[in-house]
Amino acid sequence: MERQSGNLGCSVGINTIIAVENIIESVNLKLQSFGPNQEAPEFQVFFNDHVSNDFNTLFKSLPTDKQYFAAGVPGLFQGRLFPKASLHFVHSSYALHWLSKVPKELIDKNSPAWNKGRIHYTNSLKEVRDAYSAQFAEGIESFLNARAQELVSGGLMTLIMPCLPDGISSQCAVFAFKDLLEACLNEMVDEVTFDQTQ
Ligand SMILES: C[S@@+](CC[C@H](N)C(=O)[O-])C[C@H]1O[C@@H](n2cnc3c(N)ncnc32)[C@H](O)[C@@H]1O
Repeated sequence: MERQSGNLGCSVGINTIIAVENIIESVNLKLQSFGPNQEAPEFQVFFNDHVSNDFNTLFKSLPTDKQYFAAGVPGLFQGRLFPKASLHFVHSSYALHWLSKVPKELIDKNSPAWNKGRIHYTNSLKEVRDAYSAQFAEGIESFLNARAQELVSGGLMTLIMPCLPDGISSQCAVFAFKDLLEACLNEMVDEVTFDQTQ
C-alpha cells in the first residue's frame, strides 16, 4: 500500500520536515487503532515550492532515517502540480496567504487603486483593498480547483495560514510591522536612486 502526500510551499527549514513526520506518525497511529497486523503503508512525500526554492539544501537536511520517499515538485501551487486523483494528503503551512503576483491595478498610475510606494493595504483606499482581495480570491480558487483534481476521493488537506477577522484596527501590531518594513524598503530605494544620480 502506498500513500502520497504533498507539502506545498515547503521552503527549506525544519518546519516542513516536522510537519511531514507528524502526518506520517498520525496516519500510523490511526492504522494501529484498527488493530494489530495492519499492513504498514509506504509513504511518498512531494515537497513543493517555487522553482527558485533551494531544494538542494532541503534534501540535504532530510533525516537519514526518514520513513518516506522524498521528491521535489517545483512550481506555483495555484496551478496543477500532480496527476489526477494521486494525492492522499495535502499539507500547506504559512504559504497560501502570499499572493502569486502584485495586482496590476496597484502599479497602474491611471488606476484608482494605484498604491505608489506602498507594499500593503494598511490605511489605504477601498480600491486598493479590493485589488488585494480580488487577487487573493483568484489565487485561492485556483489552488482549490487544482487540489480538487489531484486529491483522491476521501483525501485530506490541512491548510494553515495567518488571517485577521474583518474590522481589525490598522493600529494592530501586524500592520505596524508592515509599515516599518515599507519605510525601510522605500529608504533603500531612495538610497539606490540617489547613488545612481551621483
Ligand atoms: C513562510 S514559508 C513557509 C514554509 C513552511 N511551510 C513553514 O510552515 O515553515 C512560505 C513558502 O511558501 C512558498 N510559496 C509562496 N507562494 C507559493 C506559490 N504560489 N507556489 C509555491 N510555493 C509558494 C514560498 O516560496 C516559501 O518558501
